[in-house]
Amino acid sequence: MSDIKKEINTLLATFSEQLSEVETEQELEEIRITFLGRKGKLTELMGQMKKLPIEKKRELGPLLNGLKRNIEQQFAQKKKGLANAERKAESLRQQHFDVTAYKPGALKSSLHIYTQIIEQIEDIFISMGYGIADGPEAETDYYNFQALNIPADHPARDMQDTFWLNMPDMLLRTHTSPVQVREMEKRSAPIALIAPGRVYRHEATDASHDFMFSQVEGLLVDKNISMSHLLATAKTFLQKFFEKKDLDIRVRPGYFPFVEPGIEIDFSCAFCSSGCSICKKTGWIELMGAGLIHPNVLKYAKIDSEVYSGFAFGFGIERIAMIKHGINDIRLFHSSSIDFLKQF
Ligand code: FA5
Repeated sequence: MSDIKKEINTLLATFSEQLSEVETEQELEEIRITFLGRKGKLTELMGQMKKLPIEKKRELGPLLNGLKRNIEQQFAQKKKGLANAERKAESLRQQHFDVTAYKPGALKSSLHIYTQIIEQIEDIFISMGYGIADGPEAETDYYNFQALNIPADHPARDMQDTFWLNMPDMLLRTHTSPVQVREMEKRSAPIALIAPGRVYRHEATDASHDFMFSQVEGLLVDKNISMSHLLATAKTFLQKFFEKKDLDIRVRPGYFPFVEPGIEIDFSCAFCSSGCSICKKTGWIELMGAGLIHPNVLKYAKIDSEVYSGFAFGFGIERIAMIKHGINDIRLFHSSSIDFLKQF
């Protein structure tokens, strides 16, 4: 037998043997390079043909072509076999997928910081006997302004730049105070509720102002309600929210047409005793607008102001969350940034 014939037989035997041991795509690729690649054994053998005389070429040519076909067929079959085996293994893996398997470091889902803060606020007020109310975000001029003692052309309308809708007298509510009137109309006194919700203002945004943010409205109507009830309620809420028993509040005059007298409530910094960056070294943090409900508003809501009185307050949810968690930009709340969200 000529040398080349021997080499053909040896090559085929080596190839078949090595191929039978292949178990992965990676090993198959190595075999392909070794035997069928540009510098592979088969190419090398075929290269030797070129140097042979013509009658040898005639004799060995068909043998080499047969070898090539044989090798390629075995290779293709093996490839198909491996792919089928992988498909079966994958389907088996899927059938036995363990949904309870623990994956260290996996991103866990959690409630959005908005929801967490709203739930904390609701829990505190529910524990004080308050109910939860809701109102429409697309509101009428009547509930957002007029029934809150802010008639058309009243300068106080400029305090809350408004997104007007393409419908007569309709707007995106600028505060949660319209819920006060809606609820007083629906219920009879005594009433104690809070109304968390989204509000909109036609304002430029910066780190502490957004055009869309959330507020919590608080409302209490009963006989003989006075400023001391309001202050005790605000203080109790803040002490529970910031988990600080010695947290104090202070009051400054504030103007809101729907309360009389109107006040602004600040609370003593929950994070320092001698001034820090959160309280801007003043020891006090501004938080909410509040006051005793104006008799005109009670009248709009058909509540007898000779018999009943009440208080109302409103504060920003993002602001209180920013203070509690040291968040430095209000726009992060609806940025959908995973880095921001996964901290809570
Ligand atoms: C009001 O909206 C009154 N309705 C609050 C009120 C209710 C007073 C009941 C009296 C009785 P004011 O415009 O100050 O008030 O807004 C209340 C809070 O919303 C602010 O203290 C602040 O925390 C938040 N806030 C106001 N504007 C923005 C803004 N552009 N971005 C984020 N938060 C804001």
